[in-house]
Amino acid sequence: MMNRKTFLTSAASLALAGIAPLARAQAGKLKVGFMLPATGTYAALGTAIDNGFRLYVDQLGGKIAGREIEYIRVDDESDPSKATDNVNKLIKRDNVDVIVGTVHSGVAMAMAKAAKESGTLLIIPNAGADAVTGPMCAPNIFRSSFSNWQPGFAMGEVAAKQGHKKAVTITWKYAAGAESVKGFKDAFEKAGGKVMKDLTVPFPNVEFQALLTEIASLKPDVVYTFFAGGGAVKFVKDYAAAGLKDSIPLVGAGFVTDGTLEAQGAAAEGLLTALHYADELPAPKDKEFRLAYAKAYKMQPDVYAVQGYDAAQILAIGLNATKGDAKNAKAFSAAVTKATIDSPRGKFTMSKAHNPVQDMYLRKVVGNENVYQSVAVKALADPATGCRM
Ligand code: PHB
Repeated sequence: MMNRKTFLTSAASLALAGIAPLARAQAGKLKVGFMLPATGTYAALGTAIDNGFRLYVDQLGGKIAGREIEYIRVDDESDPSKATDNVNKLIKRDNVDVIVGTVHSGVAMAMAKAAKESGTLLIIPNAGADAVTGPMCAPNIFRSSFSNWQPGFAMGEVAAKQGHKKAVTITWKYAAGAESVKGFKDAFEKAGGKVMKDLTVPFPNVEFQALLTEIASLKPDVVYTFFAGGGAVKFVKDYAAAGLKDSIPLVGAGFVTDGTLEAQGAAAEGLLTALHYADELPAPKDKEFRLAYAKAYKMQPDVYAVQGYDAAQILAIGLNATKGDAKNAKAFSAAVTKATIDSPRGKFTMSKAHNPVQDMYLRKVVGNENVYQSVAVKALADPATGCRM
């Protein structure tokens, strides 16, 4: 026979085991922990991601799977040495349901490790670190953006098709730069090209002069680059000021001209880049997104805003399937990998490793736009080497 006391005790233990109170687990606010750069060379990228994410949530009426959203923010400063402490603030101190972050690959790797260990849901709205959807892949880790390899590979194919034979690469010396260059090299050398030399500067340095002098003396047919944010603005201007723009074509992963064109001005005119987003895409979803974004934030969106928007879409798809339960990684993952995500970039699907399988566009800078030219590679999937789930 069960008296009142034993009944209450067993209800409590069921609750602890996560069985009975399903309804209660889904109720209450959904705590979203934004770990993004608010300072440093990637600060503007963090703002665009935050804006894009909130735009989608606002379009849903401020709720996902019936739960209101509470945002908690940590500035990660794009500093890998502070990443573990920063992510643990969200996981342990704030007890967030989901982490959304970040921009910098080195920081993202520390976040993925913490998410994997704690089981906290993590959606990466930018950082392309190949390892996160490679050897570090996990049922609770998703990426709404790209792997560093993807845009590099697409640009390598285009550069080879254009008849370039000898390339020099230049980037920051950290995971994102190295992996972007590897993508370029994989495609460019497979098509018969040769990378003569890889040049790097430490992140986030912007002292390019010595390397630009070296490029002038190496005389490659083409230069491939990965820079982004404030560093990209400075690099494109310095490349033009060194007199290289007209003699050696500069191509890149599209980040080098995304969200940066107003500051780069004429120095960027005509540059060709590859990316999973472009201006003037022939997609109705994009037109609608751009109008809504411009209305909400009084500025034009860029690739980072799209990735933030899609991070929220992924969260909604997963949580609708789990009735708001952010801990049910298995059901969340099943729903997301089955879905077609209706992104402003064009529709895409999620690979088994949880990285977008998406079209890569060739874009050309015309004024303040990265104007869509063509699909460089259709439905490009990251190789996801080492991912076992
Ligand atoms: C990265 O660190 O993975 C990264 C940073 C900025 C970008 C793209 C990738 O624009």
